[in-house]
Amino acid sequence: MNYKILILVQALVWANLSYSKYLPGTDRKAFSKLVDGLSKKQLAQIKAGFSLYAKGWVTAPSSTRVRDGLGPHFNAVSCVSCHQHNGRGRPPVKGLKPDFSLLIRLSISGENKNGGPLADPIYGGQFHPRSTLGVKSEGALNLKYNKKVITLSDGKNVELQSPSYKLDNLNYGPMSPDIRISPRVAPHLAGVGKLDRVTEQSILEYSDEFDQNVDGISGRANYVWNIIESKKTIGKFGWKANQPTLLQQNAGAFNGDLGITSSLFKKQNCSIGQVDCSTALDGGELEISDKHLGFVNLAVASIDVPQVKRLKYYEEGRKIFESLDCHKCHRPSFELESETISAYTDLLLHDMGEGLADKRSDFMANGREWKTAPLWGIGAQKETNGHTFLLHDGRARNVEEAILWHGGEAKKSQLGYINLSKDERTSLIDFVNSL
Ligand code: HEC
Ligand code: HEC
Repeated sequence: MNYKILILVQALVWANLSYSKYLPGTDRKAFSKLVDGLSKKQLAQIKAGFSLYAKGWVTAPSSTRVRDGLGPHFNAVSCVSCHQHNGRGRPPVKGLKPDFSLLIRLSISGENKNGGPLADPIYGGQFHPRSTLGVKSEGALNLKYNKKVITLSDGKNVELQSPSYKLDNLNYGPMSPDIRISPRVAPHLAGVGKLDRVTEQSILEYSDEFDQNVDGISGRANYVWNIIESKKTIGKFGWKANQPTLLQQNAGAFNGDLGITSSLFKKQNCSIGQVDCSTALDGGELEISDKHLGFVNLAVASIDVPQVKRLKYYEEGRKIFESLDCHKCHRPSFELESETISAYTDLLLHDMGEGLADKRSDFMANGREWKTAPLWGIGAQKETNGHTFLLHDGRARNVEEAILWHGGEAKKSQLGYINLSKDERTSLIDFVNSL
């Protein structure tokens, strides 16, 4: 064979191999590796889906028919604007142009017809600081931190930052006096396809709503509206387990965050009072088709979790993780049909105390309850996203601060952490950062 042809063949083989291992065009690859066993056809669909997920959507009408229909109200122009490198977002930083990976859910007291949070009559269920040309945005987010200090048993002081949020420049008049807000940052997306396959029955195995084993921990499942099944099913995605399936989560993100309608979410994000918004041109009845939504869903579902790193004190840390009851919520494993996964979540809701409370219910989750955050992938966050911010609103700047925010059912674990020696703390954090 002519050597030029040989090089060409090698390049093709290499391109195919590297593409089949990672999402196309991605750098900082910890959250971009694809699961094994995907067929050529699936890889082609993932490529198409990833482009709809990663490239910016534009205002309708446009020559880019496949990706038009942005807004009229929106938070960001693409999924990766918030899930950068498929990783985790962060709260806005003072002095820098605000990024919008922190979104604000809105509701008032009462329930909607599906048992979910009742939207504000004007501003809806999510605050949109951005809008297309000719349409007013809903306003701006103002975030401030107050400091508080926790002293550990060996005298070390840890400063925690407690956020307070204000929604300013409200362009459609005042919000309901009864408004409740829930700030949330974008979690990383590695492993979500595996969580989608966890069965209801295996989640319920760990639930102990009335704390019958009297260990102070009483996880319970959220049941949320499942649009396709037209009934409530167990919730898994989002910080309060407020979405039942990956498909509905993704379609919900297209609608709520980008303003893209689909067969699952047919309405634009405009209320009756927002005339400029409801009369703006749109990208057709369904701005993303079922076929394309399916491709995006396959792409997101195919992101694998990074390998466990086993840092220096992994083994010592694992024992402390158990002795402080961390594993009782951060459940080490789930059995799927064909594999065991180690997500370190029970996918259940827990009362986390007043400090973390958003005072806003979300289906069965009350204002103090959050889904146990999965810990897998946590150690890859720094290299991938350039920061170590954690918790639902990104207030914790590292693992230690995240643990110190634990209260409610996790108060015993938090106190246990405060009483550890410096070496023990290092070991526990090493373990968490290995996952
Ligand atoms: C404005 C920022 C933002 C944009 C844009 C965004 N997301 Fe998200 N994403 C979030 C936040 C915040 C959450 C948590 C939501 C909650 O708790 O209610 C989330 C949650 C998710 C989850 C669930 C993860 C888990 O482990 O529970 C998936 C999957 C997801 N988003 C996919 C997408 C897709 C697909 C798109 C593009 C269509 C997208 N997101 C666009 C901010 C964003
Ligand atoms: C009662 C259940 C419970 C126990 C016990 C518990 N956690 Fe958590 N953990 C949670 C919940 C719920 C969250 C999400 C809270 C939020 O975002 O407001 C969380 C979040 C975290 C986070 C941040 C994850 C992220 O993605 O932002 C870390 C790290 C963590 N826990 C570590 C630990 C460690 C270490 C222990 C033991 C010392 C522990 N947890 C004990 C329920 C628990």
